[in-house]
Amino acid sequence: MTDRDVPLAEQRYAAPVPEVPARPDAPTGHLLDRRARRLHDLRISVTDRCNFRCTYCMPKSVFGADYAFLPHASLLSFEEIARVARLFVAHGVEKIRLTGGEPLVRRDVERLIGMLAQIATPSGAPVDLTLTTNGSLLARKARALRDAGLQRVTVSLDALDDTVFRAMNDVGFPVADVLAGIDAAAEAGLRPVKVNMVVKRGVNEDQILPMAERFRHSGHILRFIEFMDVGTSNGWRLDDVVPSGEVARRIGERFPIAPAEPNYHGEVAERWRYLDGAGEIGLISSVTQPFCGGCTRARLSTEGKLYTCLFAGSGYDLRALLRGGRDDAHIAAAIGAIWRARDDRYSELRSADTAGLRRIEMSYIGG
Ligand code: GTP
Ligand code: 5AD
Ligand code: SF4
Ligand code: SF4
Repeated sequence: MTDRDVPLAEQRYAAPVPEVPARPDAPTGHLLDRRARRLHDLRISVTDRCNFRCTYCMPKSVFGADYAFLPHASLLSFEEIARVARLFVAHGVEKIRLTGGEPLVRRDVERLIGMLAQIATPSGAPVDLTLTTNGSLLARKARALRDAGLQRVTVSLDALDDTVFRAMNDVGFPVADVLAGIDAAAEAGLRPVKVNMVVKRGVNEDQILPMAERFRHSGHILRFIEFMDVGTSNGWRLDDVVPSGEVARRIGERFPIAPAEPNYHGEVAERWRYLDGAGEIGLISSVTQPFCGGCTRARLSTEGKLYTCLFAGSGYDLRALLRGGRDDAHIAAAIGAIWRARDDRYSELRSADTAGLRRIEMSYIGG
């Protein structure tokens, strides 16, 4: 097999899983890393495939017709995902987000949602179960997702102008169908719907105001995301980033806004409310105002590697433990040891020195 034949995603490096004692302590439901950050959120990527080719995430030049996605046998099964999720919840996770690629292209994902919806936290509350989608299949699937136990959704949408949107998703997908998906989600009760817009200088910055206007008074929450240097294939340059401060200024000039209190500790989006009562927006400023200090997120890749940072160069192979006959106590202890050793804060350290580091792709690890 030549290097070219090896599926790209399978070349990802694995970090050694820490040693675990023969009789490990049971999870306490409260796990802290080396920077005293709790383990609170689990983001699970259920597929590395997507029906879009957003230029900032899966550019066609890399993710073309001959790109080798993960083979089915590499993917964690729903049973394996649910088992790992239960162990994370025992460690204190209260929120689970399904991501991809595009999570709705994974066959039967409603069955997985049904399984995850059964998991309760140690205090007996259901976990907050949500999903990030490009919205293309939402009009068709919203009701079934809700019936399966999904609580809410976040939909990525980068422009209201059809030409700009088609160019950004690079498969010519029409904006009207995503808008229909957002409506269907809200009607099905997957509320509040959050809408994520990645802003790229010179590409869709002229869509900031139309998007703000469209989602005012809608009950949906529009969030503006700074274009990030995730992975190594999207050609990121600092010049392409539109700082959140500029977004806030542009919106504020048209529709006056004021900062609002965070909903919870470590919230990624900074909340702003319209002074005329039209609702709120969020600003996600990973580049200009990193939020690593409150980062409580663990990420499980499609093939079962645990990443403790979106920018980590390697993950811990939990699938090897699952398929190697390890019991729950052992796997839970391994997760505990990995989290306690965690020291990541990439966005705070981002600089010329971090530019050349190995980084995984967003479509592999989830957003
Ligand atoms: P809710 O508050 O539960 O709705 O979710 P969230 O705020 O975590 O938002 P979401 O999962 O939609 O994340 C929005 C975007 O923020 C992602 O698509 C990423 O672009 C970015 N993001 C989320 N988590 C992180 C993180 O840990 N680090 C960095 N650098 N960016 C993140
Ligand atoms: N920078 C910022 N956000 C990104 N996303 C994907 N790639 C990037 C990037 N380079 C966002 C998408 C979606 C989520 C999955 O991640 O817009 O909302
Ligand atoms: Fe697909 Fe989302 Fe990446 Fe776009 S940003 S290519 S929709 S995974
Ligand atoms: Fe968390 Fe890493 Fe993002 Fe910082 S860069 S917020 S540590 S995922």
